[in-house]
Amino acid sequence: MKNFISTQDWSKSDLQDILDYAKELKVNKFQDNLKNKSIALMFFNPSMRTRTSFELGIQQLGGLAVVLHPGKDAWPIEFKLNEVMDTDSEEHIIEVAKVLSEYCDLIAIRAFPKFINLEEDLSDNVIKSFAKYATVPVVNMETITHPCQELAHILTMQEQLGDLSGKDYLLTWTYHPKPLNTAVANSSLLIASKFGMNVKLLCPTEDYLLHDTYMQNAEENCNANGTSFSITHDIKEGYKNADVVYAKSWGALSYYGNPEDEKLIRDRYKHFIVNEEKMAMTNNAKFSHCLPLRRNIKATDGVMDSDYCVAIQEAGNRMHVQKSLLSTLLKDK
Ligand code: CP
Repeated sequence: MKNFISTQDWSKSDLQDILDYAKELKVNKFQDNLKNKSIALMFFNPSMRTRTSFELGIQQLGGLAVVLHPGKDAWPIEFKLNEVMDTDSEEHIIEVAKVLSEYCDLIAIRAFPKFINLEEDLSDNVIKSFAKYATVPVVNMETITHPCQELAHILTMQEQLGDLSGKDYLLTWTYHPKPLNTAVANSSLLIASKFGMNVKLLCPTEDYLLHDTYMQNAEENCNANGTSFSITHDIKEGYKNADVVYAKSWGALSYYGNPEDEKLIRDRYKHFIVNEEKMAMTNNAKFSHCLPLRRNIKATDGVMDSDYCVAIQEAGNRMHVQKSLLSTLLKDK
């Protein structure tokens, strides 16, 4: 039984198989790969794209999705071991994972970091606890990484640019009024490096570097592929020669759990917005973002409405890659 928690646990060739089958499913949408299969979709946080694409994708493959929001329409869950459960949680992850495994063939989880304790968030305890106690495959719908978004992103880049080996990839931090999850940024480094691109991370200062875990993974992937991983705080240097520009905002790790103080430095970097002038410095790059996106805060209308913006294509591809992923996981079960 295989889980899909991080693409680092998967080989490039196995990921490429998922992408190739996704391309087939994009043409032939309706199959019976999930006939008589039930999938629990557990959302600890809001979603538009993820919920819609999973729920409809499962239906298109003949399966049934059960959507649960612990603490809202399902009981709040305790994740600590050996806990005297005398607060709000009504049941323990051990029972939740085991009971859902009795009913369902796969469990998918969205559980964002809480932005209070970095080490706790890095431990990815919610999804790892599901993986520990469930007896069916577990899929990450965004925790400290967002591997389903990675698949959609890389499929879109392959559709646009063909073989990605040796292409220049820029992940740029962009402004947002609140500190956001690093998941998509972490994921962007992982997948671009795994698929053979030269990866550059552009962020305002060292405060906005991503966690070493993900930067080291990216560097190792690049070393294995004979490509480069670099960091810059210089906007011109970042955009120069890029074939792909991927934008994301995230909170400064050095201010973790302290959003009020982080806001004071964050507001100095509104000029990291992706605009037409910056895109003009690139090698006719494609631009994308995972969405949701605040227009004229993270990227201008001009960028979002341009021919080189492929964010809608990437969002559309979420459905196809996830259908392929679920088919793969349940075929191998
Ligand atoms: N990109 C993404 O996961 O979108 P949602 O948060 O709307 O699911």
